[in-house]
Amino acid sequence: MPLVCLTDFQAYAQDHLSKSTWDFIEGGADECFTRDDNIAAFKKIRLRPRYLRDVREVDTRTTIQGEEITAPICIAPTGFHCLVWPDGEMSTARAAQAAGICYITSTYASCTLEDIVATAPRGLKWFQLYMQSDRQLNKQVVQRAESLGFKALVITVDTPKTGNRRCDFRNELDLHMNLLLKDLRSPKERNSMPYFQMCPIDSSFCWNDLSWLQSITRLPIILKGILTKEDAELAVKHNVRGIIVSNHGGRQLDDVPASIDALTEVVAAVKGKMEVYLDGGIRTGNDVLKALALGAKCVFLGRPILWGLAYKGEHGVEEVLNIIKNEFHTSMTLTGCRSVAEIHQDLVQFSRL
Ligand code: FNR
Repeated sequence: MPLVCLTDFQAYAQDHLSKSTWDFIEGGADECFTRDDNIAAFKKIRLRPRYLRDVREVDTRTTIQGEEITAPICIAPTGFHCLVWPDGEMSTARAAQAAGICYITSTYASCTLEDIVATAPRGLKWFQLYMQSDRQLNKQVVQRAESLGFKALVITVDTPKTGNRRCDFRNELDLHMNLLLKDLRSPKERNSMPYFQMCPIDSSFCWNDLSWLQSITRLPIILKGILTKEDAELAVKHNVRGIIVSNHGGRQLDDVPASIDALTEVVAAVKGKMEVYLDGGIRTGNDVLKALALGAKCVFLGRPILWGLAYKGEHGVEEVLNIIKNEFHTSMTLTGCRSVAEIHQDLVQFSRL
């Protein structure tokens, strides 16, 4: 039977991955309340379609940070793709290039940045950084990403330490020991010591340190994980160029709002001074439309990309992207939107359920 929607890929991945890998991908923090709410919150929003418009031509293209993408649906950073498919992030990068969308490469990619760029040289790529406690290492990896052609630097702010993922504890999953990870340093300075044992995430990193980052790179800086208007206002004050409203797929702090519920306050707070994106719980074209109606410029997919990768590597990711892009095209057509510029807040209403 063909796989026709993103949750079909989820079922396939659950059947075919080992229990510990499946749990690692699917898991949320603590009671997984926020992980599940990311999905449920979309279902409380209803669409208000407009008819009798000429929808023969529907254009899903848009731009992020000035670069054109074929649809406002891109790939969120997730680590360890080699757990799911042998050449991991290289497959993901090729699929993103073929789809004409952006792929955010994680700090915890299991392939080197050089290999990812070599396999998909024309694809739009951003680099996600977990700030490392070694400043020099941060500088080196940021400048390496910039010189390799990554177009933006995404700083994940919601992870001063890892959330409590109960399934990973039960499975005694140890990514540090069991996985062969790439070394973040430049190729000539690497040694054989596993990177994770050398350098933990910097939990002291704060707003005032952003100016240091801005001094070492010309890349636009985007903060991933902002959920409140207070932090959104600080992001404006610190000249950040974009925000990804995200709760890390419910994997960090549990009991925070669903991403789609936090979006409106962040969009209002930035007052159009930067682009705002969203990830968390996007599973259908309608979800994409709802996020754009509420002010997101583009959305990012986390787990569905890993399900596609588990299905057929590069081609599985391409299928996932094609399905959700087609669904989004249908959503636009059936609500009377001919371009993403026509997607406005009056397309949605909140259900009282
Ligand atoms: C993540 N996420 C994540 N985020 C990040 O900034 N750096 C990372 O390395 C990772 N790694 C990671 C691994 C796995 C297995 C998952 C599921 C998630 C979070 C990710 O970027 C994104 O915020 C969520 O996955 C979005 O939610 P959905 O689409 O999975 O519901």
